[in-house]
Amino acid sequence: MPEPGQSAAREDILIVEDSGVYISFFKTVFAASAYSYSIITNGTAAWEKLQSSQPKILLLDWNLPGMDGVTICRRLRELKRPNYLFVIMLTSMQRLEDIMTGFDAGADDYMVKPFEPAVLKAKIKVGMRLCELEAANTSKVELLARANQRQESLISRLEEKNQLISKQAQDIHEAQMQLVETARRAGMAEIATSVLHNVGNLLNTAMTSSTIIREVVGHSKISTLTRLAELLGQQTDFPRFIQADARGGKVPMFLTEIASVMAREHQLISDKLHVLAESQEQIRQIIALQQTYAGVAGVKDAVSLSVLIGDATRLFVESFKKHDIEIECAFAPELPLVNVEKHKLLQILINLLQNARDATKTLERGDRRIHISASLTTPDTVAITLADNGVGIRPENLERIFNFGFTTKPNGHGFGLHGCANLAREMGGALTVASPGHAQGATFTLSLPVK
Ligand SMILES: Nc1ncnc2c1ncn2[C@@H]1O[C@H](COP(=O)(O)OP(=O)(O)O)[C@@H](O)[C@H]1O
Ligand SMILES: [Mg+2]
Repeated sequence: MPEPGQSAAREDILIVEDSGVYISFFKTVFAASAYSYSIITNGTAAWEKLQSSQPKILLLDWNLPGMDGVTICRRLRELKRPNYLFVIMLTSMQRLEDIMTGFDAGADDYMVKPFEPAVLKAKIKVGMRLCELEAANTSKVELLARANQRQESLISRLEEKNQLISKQAQDIHEAQMQLVETARRAGMAEIATSVLHNVGNLLNTAMTSSTIIREVVGHSKISTLTRLAELLGQQTDFPRFIQADARGGKVPMFLTEIASVMAREHQLISDKLHVLAESQEQIRQIIALQQTYAGVAGVKDAVSLSVLIGDATRLFVESFKKHDIEIECAFAPELPLVNVEKHKLLQILINLLQNARDATKTLERGDRRIHISASLTTPDTVAITLADNGVGIRPENLERIFNFGFTTKPNGHGFGLHGCANLAREMGGALTVASPGHAQGATFTLSLPVK
């Protein structure tokens, strides 16, 4: 039965007591206190009330009509409610095992009737303090749980971000791989371009040779020889023709003359055929070089620098003759064989020779010179230098000339030196340049390991 002073919030005390004397006693004790309370006289009714409301302190008589106090207490504890309920059992029994039964059922304290109001108040105070502590704890636990939840949601957001980042990292990695592949392809295109460039030049050399051969053959003295053979064939009296005929008398001298002209023709044709064959071989080798780049790594050969430099300059014989360029080679005595991929070295030399030819074109005919030398700079390193006295390089361009695409020529492509520097590095060497300045010539030095 609700009593005055009871609040809608959590009630302080629920008294379950059937004895009229004690009911009056409790009313007297609590009338003057600030506690809210109510009194129920039946055990079953008390149990029902406890389903919907939860006081802080339960003063529970042991013997009750309906459900007894110990059963109420046990059942309450079985509910495992979140807010703590401090249970004080009231009993007239004083036997130790009875008291232990009460504690086993979940009682927090007990009082043996009759009792002092002061003791009751003190025990209530203890109960209240415990409930307050428990409430404070609960709110702290709730706070912690909320913080935990926040942390968990932060962690899950972090995990999402992490996933995003690792996905982005993967995307970046893929983009990088694509870039590497693009760069590799660009490198291949660059090589293809320089191969085509060289092949173009070699084809020019070959075509010049074949034009000369055609001209020599076209104007050959062989037709004169044919006519002479026909004339001689018509003679029935050969000795008389030689001795008495004016034309016959000139035959020996004529033959000597034709022989010497034809020997010269023969020499020229065989020289040009040689250049043609060389050009053809170099074209084959340069194309093979590109194939080397496309797949299998190149094979090294022990190469004689004088032979290889000789081959390279031979490719320019016609071109240098046409432009009046004087070329000179000097090889240090006892140069060792150098272990290199010879096509690579050849390609570098061809590029350097082309550039030197272009550089000397600004000079007067007769002044144009290129000098090639090879020597050991350390017991394990050879240096090939290619110097020209041409247009030279301005100081600000000395570094840039190796950049891909750098050119100062109207029809230049600027791939040559970049490719040469790359090739030199691949061969374990280096390509460097020196020039005192504009119009003062340039010297390229290719250093290579001997082994
Ligand atoms: N021997 C040289 N003398 C002066 N300048 C040179 C010489 N060789 C190269 N260069 C400079 O380096 C530039 C790049 O050369 P290269 O890479 O071979 O490309 P390209 O010959 O197509 O211009 C040339 O345009 C030129 O300015
Ligand atoms: Mg060039």
